[in-house]
Amino acid sequence: MSIKKIITFPNPVLREKAQKITTFDDKLKKLAADMGETMYDAPGVGLAANQIGIARQIVVVDISENEDEKKYIALINPVISDGEGSVVGEEGCLSVLEYESKVKRFQKIRVTAQNLEGEEIDFEAEDRLARIIQHEVDHLHGKLFIDHISRLKLTLYKKKLKKILKNK
Ligand code: NI
Repeated sequence: MSIKKIITFPNPVLREKAQKITTFDDKLKKLAADMGETMYDAPGVGLAANQIGIARQIVVVDISENEDEKKYIALINPVISDGEGSVVGEEGCLSVLEYESKVKRFQKIRVTAQNLEGEEIDFEAEDRLARIIQHEVDHLHGKLFIDHISRLKLTLYKKKLKKILKNK
Protein backbone atom coordinates (compact mmCIF):
# COMPACT_ATOMS: atom_id res chain seq x y z
CA MET A 1 0.00 0.00 0.00
CA SER A 2 1.13 3.51 -0.56
CA ILE A 3 -0.07 6.99 0.14
CA LYS A 4 -0.88 8.99 -2.98
CA LYS A 5 -0.76 12.72 -3.53
CA ILE A 6 -4.19 14.32 -3.40
CA ILE A 7 -4.93 16.72 -6.23
CA THR A 8 -6.58 19.98 -5.24
CA PHE A 9 -8.91 22.56 -6.79
CA PRO A 10 -8.58 24.22 -9.28
CA ASN A 11 -6.57 21.42 -10.97
CA PRO A 12 -8.61 20.49 -14.11
CA VAL A 13 -8.08 16.77 -13.45
CA LEU A 14 -10.83 17.07 -10.86
CA ARG A 15 -13.26 18.04 -13.65
CA GLU A 16 -12.66 14.89 -15.69
CA LYS A 17 -15.46 12.37 -15.93
CA ALA A 18 -14.32 9.03 -14.58
CA GLN A 19 -14.40 5.98 -16.86
CA LYS A 20 -16.32 2.86 -16.00
CA ILE A 21 -14.24 0.01 -14.59
CA THR A 22 -14.55 -3.34 -16.38
CA THR A 23 -11.51 -5.28 -15.11
CA PHE A 24 -11.60 -6.57 -11.56
CA ASP A 25 -8.06 -7.69 -10.87
CA ASP A 26 -5.33 -7.35 -8.26
CA LYS A 27 -4.38 -3.94 -9.61
CA LEU A 28 -7.86 -2.68 -8.78
CA LYS A 29 -7.58 -4.11 -5.25
CA LYS A 30 -4.21 -2.39 -4.85
CA LEU A 31 -5.74 0.89 -6.04
CA ALA A 32 -8.57 0.55 -3.50
CA ALA A 33 -6.07 -0.21 -0.70
CA ASP A 34 -3.93 2.80 -1.68
CA MET A 35 -7.02 5.00 -1.73
CA GLY A 36 -8.08 3.76 1.71
CA GLU A 37 -4.62 4.46 3.11
CA THR A 38 -4.46 7.88 1.44
CA MET A 39 -7.91 8.79 2.79
CA TYR A 40 -7.04 7.93 6.40
CA ASP A 41 -3.65 9.59 6.16
CA ALA A 42 -5.23 12.88 5.00
CA PRO A 43 -7.41 12.35 7.14
CA GLY A 44 -10.77 12.15 5.42
CA VAL A 45 -13.93 10.05 5.27
CA GLY A 46 -14.18 9.52 1.53
CA LEU A 47 -11.99 9.61 -1.56
CA ALA A 48 -12.64 9.30 -5.28
CA ALA A 49 -9.98 8.07 -7.71
CA ASN A 50 -10.05 11.39 -9.62
CA GLN A 51 -8.58 12.97 -6.50
CA ILE A 52 -5.37 11.02 -6.96
CA GLY A 53 -5.33 11.63 -10.71
CA ILE A 54 -7.01 8.43 -11.85
CA ALA A 55 -10.22 9.14 -13.76
CA ARG A 56 -11.87 5.78 -13.11
CA GLN A 57 -15.11 5.04 -11.31
CA ILE A 58 -13.98 3.94 -7.88
CA VAL A 59 -14.52 5.57 -4.51
CA VAL A 60 -13.70 4.57 -0.95
CA VAL A 61 -16.02 5.54 1.86
CA ASP A 62 -15.41 5.34 5.60
CA ILE A 63 -17.91 3.20 7.49
CA SER A 64 -16.09 3.08 10.84
CA GLU A 65 -18.18 3.19 13.96
CA ASN A 66 -15.44 4.70 16.08
CA GLU A 67 -12.41 6.81 15.29
CA ASP A 68 -9.62 4.25 15.35
CA GLU A 69 -11.46 1.52 13.48
CA LYS A 70 -10.48 2.58 9.93
CA LYS A 71 -13.10 0.51 8.18
CA TYR A 72 -14.12 1.43 4.66
CA ILE A 73 -15.90 0.10 1.62
CA ALA A 74 -14.81 0.44 -2.00
CA LEU A 75 -17.58 1.14 -4.48
CA ILE A 76 -16.91 0.48 -8.15
CA ASN A 77 -19.07 2.14 -10.83
CA PRO A 78 -21.43 3.52 -8.16
CA VAL A 79 -24.77 4.99 -9.19
CA ILE A 80 -27.28 6.72 -6.96
CA SER A 81 -30.41 5.08 -8.30
CA ASP A 82 -32.88 6.79 -6.00
CA GLY A 83 -32.95 9.52 -3.38
CA GLU A 84 -35.44 10.95 -0.94
CA GLY A 85 -35.69 13.70 1.65
CA SER A 86 -33.30 16.59 1.78
CA VAL A 87 -30.89 17.70 4.46
CA VAL A 88 -28.46 20.56 4.67
CA GLY A 89 -25.12 19.71 6.26
CA GLU A 90 -21.57 20.96 6.47
CA GLU A 91 -19.12 19.53 3.93
CA GLY A 92 -15.46 19.80 3.18
CA CYS A 93 -13.26 18.02 0.70
CA LEU A 94 -9.64 16.86 0.69
CA SER A 95 -9.34 18.51 -2.73
CA VAL A 96 -10.74 21.86 -1.61
CA LEU A 97 -8.24 23.40 0.79
CA GLU A 98 -9.38 25.05 4.00
CA TYR A 99 -13.04 25.39 3.15
CA GLU A 100 -16.33 24.06 4.43
CA SER A 101 -19.84 24.96 3.43
CA LYS A 102 -23.40 23.82 3.87
CA VAL A 103 -24.65 21.60 1.06
CA LYS A 104 -28.11 20.19 0.47
CA ARG A 105 -28.21 16.44 -0.16
CA PHE A 106 -30.72 13.60 -0.19
CA GLN A 107 -31.27 12.26 3.33
CA LYS A 108 -31.62 8.71 2.08
CA ILE A 109 -30.30 7.12 -1.10
CA ARG A 110 -30.26 3.83 -2.90
CA VAL A 111 -26.89 2.88 -4.33
CA THR A 112 -26.08 0.33 -6.98
CA ALA A 113 -22.43 -0.47 -7.55
CA GLN A 114 -19.97 -3.33 -7.83
CA ASN A 115 -17.53 -4.56 -5.23
CA LEU A 116 -13.86 -5.35 -5.83
CA GLU A 117 -14.80 -8.81 -7.09
CA GLY A 118 -17.09 -7.30 -9.71
CA GLU A 119 -20.26 -8.49 -7.97
CA GLU A 120 -23.33 -6.27 -8.13
CA ILE A 121 -24.24 -4.62 -4.84
CA ASP A 122 -27.37 -2.67 -4.05
CA PHE A 123 -28.03 -0.98 -0.71
CA GLU A 124 -29.62 1.96 1.04
CA ALA A 125 -27.72 4.61 2.97
CA GLU A 126 -28.90 7.40 5.19
CA ASP A 127 -27.60 10.58 6.79
CA ARG A 128 -23.77 10.74 7.13
CA LEU A 129 -23.06 7.76 4.89
CA ALA A 130 -25.56 8.98 2.28
CA ARG A 131 -23.89 12.40 2.30
CA ILE A 132 -20.39 10.98 1.85
CA ILE A 133 -21.49 8.73 -1.01
CA GLN A 134 -23.28 11.58 -2.80
CA HIS A 135 -20.18 13.76 -2.42
CA GLU A 136 -17.88 11.02 -3.77
CA VAL A 137 -20.14 10.08 -6.68
CA ASP A 138 -20.15 13.79 -7.63
CA HIS A 139 -16.35 13.59 -7.91
CA LEU A 140 -16.68 10.80 -10.48
CA HIS A 141 -18.78 13.17 -12.58
CA GLY A 142 -16.16 15.88 -12.30
CA LYS A 143 -18.23 17.75 -9.76
CA LEU A 144 -17.10 19.31 -6.47
CA PHE A 145 -19.14 20.32 -3.43
CA ILE A 146 -18.34 23.96 -4.14
CA ASP A 147 -20.41 23.63 -7.32
CA HIS A 148 -23.41 23.56 -4.98
CA ILE A 149 -22.65 26.88 -3.27
CA SER A 150 -23.60 30.40 -4.35
CA ARG A 151 -21.53 32.34 -6.85
CA LEU A 152 -20.71 34.93 -4.19
CA LYS A 153 -19.41 32.31 -1.75
CA LEU A 154 -17.37 30.73 -4.53
CA THR A 155 -15.82 34.08 -5.49
CA LEU A 156 -14.86 34.69 -1.88
CA TYR A 157 -13.39 31.23 -1.60
CA LYS A 158 -11.31 31.68 -4.76
CA LYS A 159 -9.85 34.88 -3.28
CA LYS A 160 -9.05 33.10 -0.05
CA LEU A 161 -7.48 30.20 -1.96
CA LYS A 162 -5.18 32.55 -3.86
CA LYS A 163 -3.78 33.76 -0.55
CA ILE A 164 -3.46 30.22 0.79
CA LEU A 165 -1.57 29.07 -2.30
CA LYS A 166 0.68 32.12 -2.25
CA ASN A 167 1.74 31.36 1.32
CA LYS A 168 2.46 27.69 0.69
NI1 NI B 1 -14.33 15.50 -1.95
